[in-house]
Amino acid sequence: MPGDLFQLNAALLMRSLRWNHDLTGLDIMQLFSATRIVATLAGALLLTSSLSHAEDVLTADPEAGKAKAASCASCHGAEGISNSPQWPHLAGQVPGYIAIQLHEFKKGAEGERNNAIMAGMAAALSDQDIADIDAYYSTLPANKGFVTPEQEETALAGKKVYRSGFADFEVPACMGCHGPAGAGIAPKFPRIAGLPKEYIAAQLQAFKAGTRSNLMMSPIAYPLTEQQIEALSAYISGLN
Ligand code: HEC
Ligand code: HEC
Repeated sequence: MPGDLFQLNAALLMRSLRWNHDLTGLDIMQLFSATRIVATLAGALLLTSSLSHAEDVLTADPEAGKAKAASCASCHGAEGISNSPQWPHLAGQVPGYIAIQLHEFKKGAEGERNNAIMAGMAAALSDQDIADIDAYYSTLPANKGFVTPEQEETALAGKKVYRSGFADFEVPACMGCHGPAGAGIAPKFPRIAGLPKEYIAAQLQAFKAGTRSNLMMSPIAYPLTEQQIEALSAYISGLN
């Protein structure tokens, strides 16, 4: 079963990620082999993911979702486009991803995504609310990203890693999972195109530090340098 394999590898991976930050040769080998396994299994996950979600059996109603999302607008914007660099846009997200994240926020400290503001917001939502809200945001037009002239050179460095990865540390190409234009693949691989630069950087830092955990993103973000995070964030925030 791919699921069992995933759990086994998740345990191994998290062990190798939660250590001291002083990498020894052995740690590096463990990290690399975990990254390889994760990359190989990503395809299997894609095939099984549509079978493993409770939301799939609920009938999602985007109109009902619109009403239920009224309390979200103060931070995520009336049309799902936030006006603070700290808050993600939700408009045009791939169907299913927002639901996955809301379920994780709802678990609080037990979840893969521990955020006090969002844990509070998600606490009152039922599975049906979550499915409706997810359906609503996925129908809205996504934010149009842009790169300022001062950021162009930085973004070009980011483009290289985005499209080709960084072989020295076995970082895979981001576009392999997020798509060449950052549009994502439903339901697990989020649209990242046009997200605020600061938000993208903060999430990559969180995956790197282990404060947000994900079987695929944790080992990918871990070896990224500050400069690579900066460059990738500049590039991705400019994608449409
Ligand atoms: C007070 C501001 C605030 C409000 C109100 C708010 N959020 Fe959030 N939301 C945030 C912040 C901050 C984050 C980023 C959390 C992090 O860094 O992990 C976030 C992240 C998210 C994410 C993750 C998006 C991604 O790209 O991974 C989803 C989904 C989300 N919020 C949905 C909602 C919904 C649905 C509501 C209303 C029920 C809501 N939020 C209300 C501040 C808010
Ligand atoms: C093997 C597939 C895979 C690859 C390759 C990959 N990602 Fe991801 N990425 C994911 C998944 C899955 C998530 C959702 C994680 C979750 O559910 O918390 C994600 C989430 C993210 C997020 C958070 C988005 C949000 O809305 O909060 C960012 C930013 C991101 N990835 C950037 C990158 C960058 C930059 C690269 C290349 C260095 C990359 N990813 C490569 C699978 C991948």
